[in-house]
Amino acid sequence: MWRRAKLRFMDREIIFVDRERALKQLEEIAERGTYPVYVVYGPEGCGKTAFFKQAFEILESFGYYVVYSSPLSKEVEELLRYSSSLGEIVREVLKLFPEPYSRIADVVINIAGRAMKRFSKPRIAILLDDLFQAVGIDKAEIYTKALLNLIEYPSGDYEKIVVLVSSSEGITRERVGRHRWVDIYLMWNMSRKGFEELYNMLPDPKPSLDILWAWAGGNPWVLQELYRNRWQIDLVIERFAKERKLRTLLTSLDREEIEVLKTSLENPDIIFKSLRNPVIQKLEKLLIEMNLLIEIWDRDERLWIDVPPPEKDTELGIGEYYAWQTPLHKEAVKRILMQIL
Ligand SMILES: Nc1ncnc2c1ncn2[C@@H]1O[C@H](COP(=O)(O)OP(=O)(O)OP(=O)(O)O)[C@@H](O)[C@H]1O
Ligand SMILES: [Mg+2]
Repeated sequence: MWRRAKLRFMDREIIFVDRERALKQLEEIAERGTYPVYVVYGPEGCGKTAFFKQAFEILESFGYYVVYSSPLSKEVEELLRYSSSLGEIVREVLKLFPEPYSRIADVVINIAGRAMKRFSKPRIAILLDDLFQAVGIDKAEIYTKALLNLIEYPSGDYEKIVVLVSSSEGITRERVGRHRWVDIYLMWNMSRKGFEELYNMLPDPKPSLDILWAWAGGNPWVLQELYRNRWQIDLVIERFAKERKLRTLLTSLDREEIEVLKTSLENPDIIFKSLRNPVIQKLEKLLIEMNLLIEIWDRDERLWIDVPPPEKDTELGIGEYYAWQTPLHKEAVKRILMQIL
């Protein structure tokens, strides 16, 4: 039986909470393997890295040789993690790459290729967190194809293979979604229950669960940011808007775009309804690329990791076809719009 992964949340170590369906899905993935490459795409801070760390535990317990990389991680040990039985292969490969971290995806692919040759019909799992952000979105296609080649044209015989890639880049779908190389799965923010579990770990005094849910919409990173900034929501929003250069972005829009954007704060589906208009197509693309909005597509559970977002919830900015990544994203846009109009 596998363990729940150890994670860092705020300044402490906690274990992976909730996400019961995702855990079952990981067991199914371990039993079947993946074909083609699975790409997990979802709002920034929704818990993709946490999911990958949990995947490591579960896949290893199913007898996989696991190699995991979170190339953008600030923690050195997350840059490359692997099952201890891969130690020798990893050492060999690192000798070939004097600067492994700038080419971490190549390193991981190389390790997996060698493991296929070295072991007899092994189970191999490759987990690449934030791959596209790390290699650059222009190389997203090259790397997904290289990963698919590993599945289709392996260097040795394997029993099962799992390849998971995560991305919070809005452009993911456009870049890799149109190829047969990947299946894209969406992952949403946490359920109310999971979010409550994290909330309960926070020290008092703190705002009520209802208030925090309304700001974070189940996003654990937003919760963490609010905590770090001593619950000063204005400060968190201001910083967010500044880092994303929202003012520059929004002042570049024309009147028609501004009108639709304003309405979309109450109901993001207005974008779907206006998509025949090329101006709004451009706006949609921009909001997705800026990681503000996500196209929900549909709520068929088979296309989701864990559970899809709740049905339409205008308070949280969730429509039927589109959703703001979190209420904080929506609020930041709203405040800047108010300033510039
Ligand atoms: N199921 C969970 N149980 C416990 N903590 C979680 C869970 N999911 C996420 N967290 C915590 O919430 C925070 C944000 O999650 P995480 O870093 O996994 O999000 P992410 O989607 O990878 O973000 P990014 O888009 O920035 O890469 C982290 O501190 C993480 O440990
Ligand atoms: Mg992450």
